[in-house]
Amino acid sequence: MPETVTVRHARLSDVEEILLFWTRSAEGKNVTDDAGGVAGLIQRDPLALLIAEVDGGVVGTVIAGWDGWRCHLYRLAVDPAMRREGMATLLLDHAEQRFRDLGGRRLDAMVLDGNDLAHSAWASAGYAAQPEWSRWVKPLK
Ligand SMILES: CC(C)(COP(=O)(O)OP(=O)(O)OC[C@H]1O[C@@H](n2cnc3c(N)ncnc32)[C@H](O)[C@@H]1OP(=O)(O)O)[C@@H](O)C(=O)NCCC(=O)NCCS
Repeated sequence: MPETVTVRHARLSDVEEILLFWTRSAEGKNVTDDAGGVAGLIQRDPLALLIAEVDGGVVGTVIAGWDGWRCHLYRLAVDPAMRREGMATLLLDHAEQRFRDLGGRRLDAMVLDGNDLAHSAWASAGYAAQPEWSRWVKPLK
């Protein structure tokens, strides 16, 4: 990992760059992957979206979402050119510290069943699947 890597909270001025970064580095596309969705997150909770930067460019992200009840992790992604150097581990360390500071008790991440790469990364960070649970969704109209 480059020595110049830093982790900070995303600002509204980062939104477009983060969206571009996700198109080349993240898994799939979320219903909230647009300027309004990301800006809404930053406005709602300015400490939730963490970005790793090298030389002023985004090379990693994770959302550490706290709703006062649970600790949810989303959008863990690392630039394909900088993988396997500990960047995801660094971002998760920061996210976990945020949850610890907030009094969180357990962390969860939504992970696609077929994303073997993600399974390795989450397992290596100490997370385990709960096969008895499924996600139920309904679009809000
Ligand atoms: C998953 C992802 C975030 C991992 O980022 P990373 O910076 O490469 O991860 P790290 O270097 O911190 O690796 C941590 C551990 O995860 C595991 N791991 C990461 N990449 C792996 C790979 N290609 N094969 C096997 N294990 C892997 C290893 O155990 C690794 O530790 P090690 O390198 O000491 O063996 C990155 O591959 C990525 O952005 N993937 C696409 C987006 C994605 O699927 N995100 C997860 C959504 S749920």
